[in-house]
Amino acid sequence: MTLEQHHGPNILALGRTAALACEALWPLLLQAADWRRRQGAGPAPRLSAAHDPRLGMHLHDGQWQLHGAWPLAAHELAGPLLPLVAEVPAGTSRVVGQLGQSLDGQVATQGGDSGALNGPEALVHLHRLRALSDAVLVGTGTAVADNPRLTTRHVSGPHPTRVVLDVHLRVPPEAGVFTDGLAPTLLVCDAPDRTRAAQRVGAHQVLAVPGLVDAAGQVVWPALLASLRERGLAVLLVEGGGVTVSRCLAQGVLDRLHLMVAPVLIGQGRPGVQLPPVQHMSQCLRPRARAYRLGEDVLWDLDLRSG
Ligand SMILES: NC(=O)c1ccc[n+]([C@@H]2O[C@H](COP(=O)([O-])OP(=O)(O)OC[C@H]3O[C@@H](n4cnc5c(N)ncnc54)[C@H](OP(=O)(O)O)[C@@H]3O)[C@@H](O)[C@H]2O)c1
Repeated sequence: MTLEQHHGPNILALGRTAALACEALWPLLLQAADWRRRQGAGPAPRLSAAHDPRLGMHLHDGQWQLHGAWPLAAHELAGPLLPLVAEVPAGTSRVVGQLGQSLDGQVATQGGDSGALNGPEALVHLHRLRALSDAVLVGTGTAVADNPRLTTRHVSGPHPTRVVLDVHLRVPPEAGVFTDGLAPTLLVCDAPDRTRAAQRVGAHQVLAVPGLVDAAGQVVWPALLASLRERGLAVLLVEGGGVTVSRCLAQGVLDRLHLMVAPVLIGQGRPGVQLPPVQHMSQCLRPRARAYRLGEDVLWDLDLRSG
């Protein structure tokens, strides 16, 4: 993998030393994710950069930390990614939402085009999020509109299990995720729909969750997360679209939300975050937030468990 593939085309702006450090840090983040997936398998390793053993990562109170004189760019790379590799207490999940959006809060045009919304650095960040997660989930609307691959082709690292939340079995069985064989895929439906779902995509690609949908037609996320954990999938990236991420946010399911804001105005498109109306600013969510540059875009990393 070239430095440009690693960081996007603005590699020159980053500087070669910083770029090399970031390139050395990424495999350590992958190793930390791998260690988390095998949690309990021996003491936590002390990870060292291949080009300089004084630079590394270690685990402290369940959180990975950088040690040594890493350049600022490496800290900027690690900042939004370290929470994904932290230990996950038994019986719990970690859920990170992401949306790439315009300055005016849209995630696609009205016709459903979101392809060129964000820049290449944001795309690399999204693929890093996928590589550090156990599973990546999209809603029906995204699976139908984008026919996404949900792989990690822009970074090194494993593909996550692909999860399509398709309560009404609306996603065509010919969709790439069900047919391309690039990574394991699960169609999530309610238990009574197991047979119909299996007829569409094959029983091995169906996760039928008892009690997935409540009387009001809402997804019961704790039931879904528990079923994913039974398959060893404890860290979940909810990749979109706006409806699915918003519902997760409203129901308090998300631990963090990564909003990648691109300097573009869409006007009337497909909205990103939508929450029930409130009267006063004091009732609004104001989580602890940190901003990172991703080329032309700005990543807002929101800690929804703060405060
Ligand atoms: N910029 C980005 O980062 C990004 C990321 C992903 C997608 N997108 C864009 O977003 C658009 C699609 O997004 P979207 O918001 O329209 O759709 P979406 O979130 O992908 O899917 C929404 C649908 O999923 C089902 N659903 C989700 N949560 C549910 C819940 N809690 N309870 C019951 N059903 C639930 C519903 O389907 P039913 O109607 O079958 O019940 C709902 O209509 C596309 O144009 C895509 O290109 C952008």
